[in-house]
Amino acid sequence: MARRTLQATRVLVTGASSGIGREITLQLCKRGARVLATARRIERLSELQEQCKQLGYDLHILSGDLTQQQHREALVAEAKLKLGGLDVLINNAGAGAIGPFCEATSERLRTVMEIDFFAPVELTRLCLPLLETGNRPAILNIGSVLSHRAVPNKSEYCASKFAMRGWSESLRVELASKKIEVLMLSPSTTRSEFFDSLVETDSNQRSQSLGSMSPEQVAKQAISVLVRSKREMILSVGGKALVWAGRLFPAITDRILGRFQ
Ligand SMILES: NC(=O)c1ccc[n+]([C@@H]2O[C@H](COP(=O)([O-])OP(=O)(O)OC[C@H]3O[C@@H](n4cnc5c(N)ncnc54)[C@H](OP(=O)(O)O)[C@@H]3O)[C@@H](O)[C@H]2O)c1
Repeated sequence: MARRTLQATRVLVTGASSGIGREITLQLCKRGARVLATARRIERLSELQEQCKQLGYDLHILSGDLTQQQHREALVAEAKLKLGGLDVLINNAGAGAIGPFCEATSERLRTVMEIDFFAPVELTRLCLPLLETGNRPAILNIGSVLSHRAVPNKSEYCASKFAMRGWSESLRVELASKKIEVLMLSPSTTRSEFFDSLVETDSNQRSQSLGSMSPEQVAKQAISVLVRSKREMILSVGGKALVWAGRLFPAITDRILGRFQ
């Protein structure tokens, strides 16, 4: 398939106030895409907009909570108004939680599922009519290595990312006749604010992001997935090793993960 050119492509990026989403937004702007960026923290979005302006790019921003249907509807209206439509939706916003399932409240599961699963799914539902009339339309979902192999003490997060992958696979086939591509990037541990904004996690459970990828590196791979229309990409040697170990030797992988939890 021919490579996708990002020049003048109209893109909606969620979770653009920090980490991977912020870098994806910057890299898209540098390639000439017309971007609408969203997250809750307006000051972070304004800072990014200012940085883009200094570089000569026009970034559109709209702050709000993606778990709210009203904000999702406002984003679609803004894409129509400011971009004149939509070619690419990047479902990147997300949050994690760490700690044993048996010690967690049901609220933790619901919060994680709201932001990591229901929010991108319902935003996509609203964006579909715009994407149908877009130029070479695509949905890029940011999953995780944990969309492919679950680990202990992250049960809610693994469940949400597995759900995202299952939904993406189904949607990919359903939307093929409408020529809307469904792509997925599955990063491994990334040095972002992710581990500072965990849902209902006590400080003893916070994990390290040492030896991990930078958001710039992950964003570069996200751009590559889009340009090359790669249906699915798993990042990092360690991430791929975990996924393949889990597929080929599931019982041994369980035992090793159990020992290091
Ligand atoms: N970091 C990792 O190790 C890692 C590994 C694999 C996959 N991922 C995935 O990569 C994606 C990006 O994560 P990151 O590492 O860049 O983390 P991050 O720096 O914490 O960024 C998360 C983004 O999501 C936004 N967000 C969170 N809750 C939101 C809500 N309710 N409404 C609107 N926006 C919300 C945050 O913005 P506001 O707080 O301003 O709303 C922020 O912009 C996530 O889907 C994550 O699951 C991360």
